[in-house]
Amino acid sequence: MSAAIVHLTEALPHHVLTIAVPSGGLALQGRIQVPGDKSISHRALMLGAIAQGETRIKGLLLGEDPYSTARCFQAMGAKISDLEAEWISVQGLGVGNLQEPTNVLDAGNSGTTLRLMLGLLAAQPDRFFTVTGDDSLRSRPMSRVVQPLTQMGAKIWGRQGNSLAPLAIKGQSLNPIHYASPIASAQVKSCILLAGLMIAGSTSVSEPSLSRDHSERMLRAFGADLSVDPEQCRVTLAGPAQLTGQTVIVPGDISSAAFWLVAAAITPESELVIENVGVNPTRTGILDALALMDADITLENERLVTGEPVADLRVRYRPLRGCRLAGSLIPRMIDEVPILAVAALFAQGKTLIQDAAELRVKESDRLAVMASQLQKLGANVIEHADGLEIEGGTSLQGSQVDSYTDHRIAMSLAIAALRATGTTSIQRAEAAAVSYPDFTKTLAKICHPA
Ligand code: S3P
Repeated sequence: MSAAIVHLTEALPHHVLTIAVPSGGLALQGRIQVPGDKSISHRALMLGAIAQGETRIKGLLLGEDPYSTARCFQAMGAKISDLEAEWISVQGLGVGNLQEPTNVLDAGNSGTTLRLMLGLLAAQPDRFFTVTGDDSLRSRPMSRVVQPLTQMGAKIWGRQGNSLAPLAIKGQSLNPIHYASPIASAQVKSCILLAGLMIAGSTSVSEPSLSRDHSERMLRAFGADLSVDPEQCRVTLAGPAQLTGQTVIVPGDISSAAFWLVAAAITPESELVIENVGVNPTRTGILDALALMDADITLENERLVTGEPVADLRVRYRPLRGCRLAGSLIPRMIDEVPILAVAALFAQGKTLIQDAAELRVKESDRLAVMASQLQKLGANVIEHADGLEIEGGTSLQGSQVDSYTDHRIAMSLAIAALRATGTTSIQRAEAAAVSYPDFTKTLAKICHPA
């Protein structure tokens, strides 16, 4: 029956996801797993590629973004076994030993691939690299990493004052710096730390509030000498470092679980258990935000898996209330703001999301796109320079909306469509495969007529 609710037309060049809500509404029930964490997947492949010896990885995200990372590092000499096997083996080259590739490195849609990789490339003396990405990535700001790397002595060239890919990099022996980042960004922090692996002395980064710390955890596990001052949000790496291959078990991605948390939280008669989700405190802003809205979510079976906290999440429907989300909470839920905006549509009263201007430079301008696409469904959403103002309680009508090729927009709109009357079609729905290739399958499995 659920096939009639969720339908994917895999036409060329773009897929259309159609969601037809039965007149009596629908409910979500089930026990599910989400794909591997995207941030941890990238880092496991990268550190594996530059460590000495073998790294074994289980639970890697088989999405387009980690494939981009794997291809780039294979092109620089890392030996990576079949990504679809249960255990993946990466034979690393040792820090500083990436080979000069014979062609352009293509990071596809992945900002994490490009920005983290830049730190490594800039610090490989006597080698030349060119890097690029898809239309979205070539329009995203690279100056946030090019500028600190240049301060360290890096030689990087690109369009618009070296701020846009394609970029050309002539690897150098770099100098250590302390970089006070003006934004809380794990990509900026990780880029500088990765460069620091090849630099003699202390390389440190501080940020205005704490961004995800997967790099710090994994660098330590691979043997780097790294210290953290949590009060100053400052990380210091003592270089040069040698890394040793490790075993990494990648937990489920809380950014993917977020779609189901919100779907069940806003849909009467729904209850879901999402197993094996990473609950690193630098990533659980979505749980805190939904708690502020009075959602019914519990953590079960909490455990530590290769250095990362993991739990099963149980979510049941309960009426939500609007709230204000701002400040240091935003970096801890940076990728979940679009789906949180969907939750706010079904909360009583107003929700105000502030301090979220970073969303304008993600895979799309997520503030503008979410506001315009939710308005097409009849939502009461106002776009502000640094956030969204959402009045809950307006009923949504099915309509035609567009992902703007952004994976998180495609999936957020699909969840909004579950609570719209009639039929919603999401254009360019194939974008979801960047982080969640089986999103539609899971959606079809858990949706039932109410
Ligand atoms: C990521 C960091 C975040 C996040 C992105 C993944 C990472 O980006 O939005 O999806 O893996 O380091 P910023 O560092 O630009 O905030």
